[in-house]
Amino acid sequence: MLAIIGGTGLTRLKNLKITHRQVIRTPYGEPSGALTFGEINDHHVVFIARHGYGHTIPPHEINYRANIWALAEQQVSRIVSVCTVGGIREDLAPGMLVLPDQLIDYTYGRRHTFFEGGDKPVTHSDFTEPYCPKLRRRILQAAKTSRQTLIESGVYAATQGPRLETAAEINRIARDGGDMVGMTGMPEAALARESGLSYAAIAVVSNWAAGRGNSLHKVDLAAAETIFQAAIEHVHRMLEALVKVEGV
Ligand code: HPA
Repeated sequence: MLAIIGGTGLTRLKNLKITHRQVIRTPYGEPSGALTFGEINDHHVVFIARHGYGHTIPPHEINYRANIWALAEQQVSRIVSVCTVGGIREDLAPGMLVLPDQLIDYTYGRRHTFFEGGDKPVTHSDFTEPYCPKLRRRILQAAKTSRQTLIESGVYAATQGPRLETAAEINRIARDGGDMVGMTGMPEAALARESGLSYAAIAVVSNWAAGRGNSLHKVDLAAAETIFQAAIEHVHRMLEALVKVEGV
């Protein structure tokens, strides 16, 4: 089954015919909310709102481990994360959709692994390609069939939040090779990998990152919200096409 994790502005999937909701308890505490089960075009899908259904959980307080554990327990095999980002690279303008292929993690103090505790053997997971190439190909195919523009690669920089970055921090991230910046991409991607789940992200560029474009002196968050709401329509169409792609 395909799972969709909705980020800021995506607390419900409007094309999802809901069948039931389920509260899951995990050894890691409470997930962000109940899992919502349903169908998109007759395909089973499970949805969870990353920040909670009332959008009350900030990026650094999300229980990423509980969310991923809860999904893994439901026989989920693939996760598509929908997230918002600030654009750094010149072509990643507000309103664009991007399919990141790499990431850099600048977060700290988050519970970022399942592999801890004295009773467990030391385990390292390969993370060379943090996003599942096969799932990325399927998302690209879905973008094509639904005629949605999707930029096919980019480096996602995960920052701690909840504050936005300084212009100098964005310059540093750009020098490091970051193309877009968001606050929730990690440790979610790594935990999915540790759980053996395919994981990919569709990033919606809601604003120019600090110090870039029209965010030269300030990031206009109200404008970012409007841009996101318009762009999310394209994500809905892409997801409708994705569930039809064989194997998802
Ligand atoms: N920075 C970090 N996270 C974000 C941004 C940003 O500019 N825009 C949307 N999520």
